Amino acid sequence: MDPDELLVLMKARRSIRAFKPDPVPEGAITKILEAARWCQSASNKQPWRFIVVEGKEVIKALGKCATYGNFIDQAPVVIAFVADSGVAPKWHVHDSSMCSHQACLMAWALGLGTCWIGSMDRDKAAALLGLGRDEVVATILPIGFPASVPKPTSRKALDDLVSYK
Ligand SMILES: Cc1cc2nc3c(=O)[nH]c(=O)nc-3n(C[C@H](O)[C@H](O)[C@H](O)COP(=O)(O)O)c2cc1C
Repeated sequence: MDPDELLVLMKARRSIRAFKPDPVPEGAITKILEAARWCQSASNKQPWRFIVVEGKEVIKALGKCATYGNFIDQAPVVIAFVADSGVAPKWHVHDSSMCSHQACLMAWALGLGTCWIGSMDRDKAAALLGLGRDEVVATILPIGFPASVPKPTSRKALDDLVSYK
C-alpha cells in the first residue's frame, strides 16, 4: 500500500451533513463493516456490535435523538456502533469509537460520506435500538452519497503539537 495515498484519504475525509437519497450498495456496507471489524481493541476484546438501520422511521427517530444531527434523516443508511461494557468495562467506548472511525475512512474510500454523531440522548437511542443493559451507543453514523462536500477543515500545525524529549 502507498502510504501517501492513505494520508491523502485521511486528509480528504470530511464530515458530511447532506446526503443524496440514492441507496448505498450492499457491498459497500459490507466493506465498511469489515473495516470496522478489523479495528484493534484493548486485549482484543472487540466489545462492539453494529446495527445497520435502513428503516426510514427508525432513522428519523434516531435523528431526533441527536443533539446536532437533524440531517441524519436524509441518509439512506445509519450504522449504530454499540459498545458493550460487560465485555470491556474500561475500554468499550474507546474501542467502539475507534472502530467507527475505520468505518468512516472506508466509507470515504468508497465515495460515501459519514458524520460521527457524538451528542445524543443515549437512553432514547438505546431504547429505539433495543440495546441490552450493558450496551451503550458509541455513535451513530449516517451513511450516504454526499449531496455536498464542505470546504477542507483545518488542523493544528504539527509544530504546535509535537515535542521531543
Ligand atoms: C467525538 C466526536 C463527536 C462529534 N459529534 C458530532 C455531532 O454530534 N454532530 C455533528 O454534526 N458532527 C459531530 N462531529 C464531527 C466534527 O464536528 C468534525 O469531525 C469536525 O468538525 C472536523 O470536521 P471534518 O470531520 O470534516 O474534518 C463529531 C466528531 C467527533 C470526533
